[in-house]
Amino acid sequence: MSVTPARTPTVAVVGAGSVGATTAYAALVRGSARRVALYDIDRAKVEAEVADLSHGLSFVPRGEIVGGDDIEVCRGASVVVVTAGGKQRPGQSRMELAESTVGLVRTLLPQLLEVAPDAVYLMVTNPVDVVTQAALTVSGLPPARVIGSGTVLDSARLRHEIAARVGVAEQSVHASIVGEHGDSEFPLWSAASIGGVPLLEWERATGRLGPTEREEIAEQVVTAAYRIISGKGATNYAVGLAATRIIEAVLRDEHRVLPVSTWLADYHGISDVCLSVPTLVGADGAGQRLGLPFTDDERARLRASADSIRATARRVGL
Ligand code: LAC
Repeated sequence: MSVTPARTPTVAVVGAGSVGATTAYAALVRGSARRVALYDIDRAKVEAEVADLSHGLSFVPRGEIVGGDDIEVCRGASVVVVTAGGKQRPGQSRMELAESTVGLVRTLLPQLLEVAPDAVYLMVTNPVDVVTQAALTVSGLPPARVIGSGTVLDSARLRHEIAARVGVAEQSVHASIVGEHGDSEFPLWSAASIGGVPLLEWERATGRLGPTEREEIAEQVVTAAYRIISGKGATNYAVGLAATRIIEAVLRDEHRVLPVSTWLADYHGISDVCLSVPTLVGADGAGQRLGLPFTDDERARLRASADSIRATARRVGL
């Protein structure tokens, strides 16, 4: 199948499963990119997804959807989003997927680099921190250009939980989950704010929330995916939307601060691991990691999260 090289900034989504198809859908609905290419080895599946998406084009901002089981459809992409891989079974941790998904990355990345050597690579496949490190290792790309969706989704969950309890819009809550996208993640309460007021100060002034309720919020966030997976088999909507947020930051060179997963070199003394901290994201991928005043407890928890990720990375030969 001859595929014309990308004429406009293209986002290539690798994997037409629920996360990949939803990411492609969200990118079209939001107008994240003028052209979306969807690639999967399952020809019937990917052609059906592309056909279904194409039938909605008259309802979304000007966009184009192409796709197929030939990796050529990813040629010339500015951003490549990798969603392919196994999904968590009910009760299964993301880290238990590492062997299979790192193996997939080892096969896929060289093929993708052939057709999209200049792209920013956005890994979504879990365990996303280990998968991001694998993609970086296999591709040999500059660390800035290999990022993981990390805790962008978890931070959105945190903002939702706080907003719902406090009665304000999510957009008025700024809060980040940092560390592993997984069981060792945690909220950076010291940097959270409501309407621009530091959350901990707001608590003291209003008597609202407090340590116990903040613990409850954190637990809701860390366990959210397990509950959704046990109910519907997978998560897809919010992670697809989170991916489009990152895509837009790259394609529009937004320098947006997002808790994406990137390779760290001496961040609060943490090195040689991929995990999420607030990072400037723009056309070149990951830029400056925001230097934040972590408390001693937060620094210790970030180190513990890094150790957990490194243990899995070592287990799968990274
Ligand atoms: C979740 C998956 C994307 O947290 O890991 O929903």
